[in-house]
Amino acid sequence: MSDTHFGFRTVDEEAKADAVRGVFDSVASKYDLMNDLMSLGLHRVWKAYTVAVANVRPGDRVLDIAGGTGDLARAFAKPAGDTGLVVLSDINEAMARQGRDRLLDRGLVLPTLLCDAEALPFATDSFDLVSVAFGLRNMTHKDKALAEMARVLKTGGRLLVLEFSKVAAPLAKAYDWYSFNVLPRVGQWIAGDGASYRYLAESIRVHPDQEALKAMMKTAGFGHVDVHNLSAGVVALHVGIKC
Ligand SMILES: C[S@@+](CC[C@H](N)C(=O)[O-])C[C@H]1O[C@@H](n2cnc3c(N)ncnc32)[C@H](O)[C@@H]1O
Repeated sequence: MSDTHFGFRTVDEEAKADAVRGVFDSVASKYDLMNDLMSLGLHRVWKAYTVAVANVRPGDRVLDIAGGTGDLARAFAKPAGDTGLVVLSDINEAMARQGRDRLLDRGLVLPTLLCDAEALPFATDSFDLVSVAFGLRNMTHKDKALAEMARVLKTGGRLLVLEFSKVAAPLAKAYDWYSFNVLPRVGQWIAGDGASYRYLAESIRVHPDQEALKAMMKTAGFGHVDVHNLSAGVVALHVGIKC
């Protein structure tokens, strides 16, 4: 078995998947509150931007991968309409349960399934749009996951990857201070788990930057990739077209 990153630590691949599962088991019940606190509500703006770029149409078939508590799937459901299909998926049962329950609370019944993005249980050419928000960073074989996303998309279909990225240089010091001093403390205080939020900060630092992810998406089968930097690169939306 090969080694990979779990934050700044080098671990074997199986240990990474277990450790990521541990993080999301631990934070699932406080995930939404923590998202609002950590990002000062900005995650809602980043997701709203993603939904606007997605421009889902009636009848579209959409797959939200690593969908967690279901923010994107919920936003896609209305424009896809009764003739469309929106699937919420995640590898983690605790997160998927939170997502399904939140959708039900809002009167939405969407197919919700547990699956690993690296081995998607869908036929080739099944979806018009695939989205993955703040999920790719946690995957062990990002190249494999991206290739799977390309496989299940129809030709001309789009992949939207919303993910933390490389912040603009003038902000880097302040962002590091916030990430390594404030985040773990807030995580400890609210979710009783500072370590998981230290992992979050570390995992962002070892994730491919804007250009590296763009290159990975091209290799995975996305002939055209656009990069939208948000909040000075704290987050980037990569839009790939399967062509
Ligand atoms: C930070 S949460 C993001 C949730 C949601 N998309 C959002 O934006 O709020 C990351 C999610 O990725 C999921 N995840 C991690 N590895 C995965 C994999 N290999 N396949 C599918 N989901 C995965 C985790 O279980 C977790 O729910």
